Amino acid sequence: MKGVSNHPLRAAAERLRRSERLVVLTGAGMSKESGIPTFRDALEGVWARFDPEELATPQAFQRNPRLVWEWYEMRRLQVLQVQPHAGHYALAALEDRLPQVVVITQNVDGLHRRAGSSDVIELHGNITQHKCFADCQGAPTLLDIATLSQTEVPPRCPHCGAYVRPNVVWFNEFLPVEALERARDLCLRADVVLIVGTSGIVQPAASLPYIAKQHGRAFLIDVNPQRDEIAPICDIFLQGTAGSVLPQLVELLDG
Ligand code: OAD
Repeated sequence: MKGVSNHPLRAAAERLRRSERLVVLTGAGMSKESGIPTFRDALEGVWARFDPEELATPQAFQRNPRLVWEWYEMRRLQVLQVQPHAGHYALAALEDRLPQVVVITQNVDGLHRRAGSSDVIELHGNITQHKCFADCQGAPTLLDIATLSQTEVPPRCPHCGAYVRPNVVWFNEFLPVEALERARDLCLRADVVLIVGTSGIVQPAASLPYIAKQHGRAFLIDVNPQRDEIAPICDIFLQGTAGSVLPQLVELLDG
């Protein structure tokens, strides 16, 4: 058998090649090269005067529904204008090379699915979707804003009259139960976890690599231009961007 490479990229590719239950955990850094600022940069320009944690909360929405609605509409339109980059396509390409690949993302931009990943768990929802603030028909009560009257901003739920809101998780809110349960279960059973573009700060997503490591004995590979909170428990830290490292991993897999 070829000696295990001591070059981190090669060693990571060799471990990926042998994976049977791969989980990929992505954060805002995964979408940076598509032109979507990471969460903290999101307030460039006109929004610079607001703290995101004051905008992305149910309380902020109730205090000023129009402001929060417009902030999310600005981000939604931004997301609709960008494209997945080579890193997203590389993750989708893993599905043709490995027996199981599930992407668990904190991102709300939908870019993994647009790049062709077929099994994506959106822990924080999806900014291109909308729902009734009261979830009056069950959680989530998804609504198509194209069919709603735009006389009011935000529009109103046609069922109960509550405001319509983006279908994303806000601070102080619980994550979608089924998504989080499935994510935890996959991390318990994963043999390899590839972590890309997350600072590893925001819970409960940040606990997933620990679950995989401590309870599931998974091999952790971290991809980030700078050391993040998760790097210390990872087996391999690949310093670089998603758009450059992930295509190289696929190339080595094919080599
Ligand atoms: P952060 O903005 O906290 O962290 C982004 C990470 O991506 C950082 O560690 C960067 O070093 C790294 N990064 C930057 N450019 C990169 C690139 N080109 N390739 C790879 N990595 C890169 O984003 P998250 O960890 O995803 O939640 O946490 C953000 C969460 O906090 C969001 O999901 C949001 C917020 O609470 C909600 O909106 C509910």
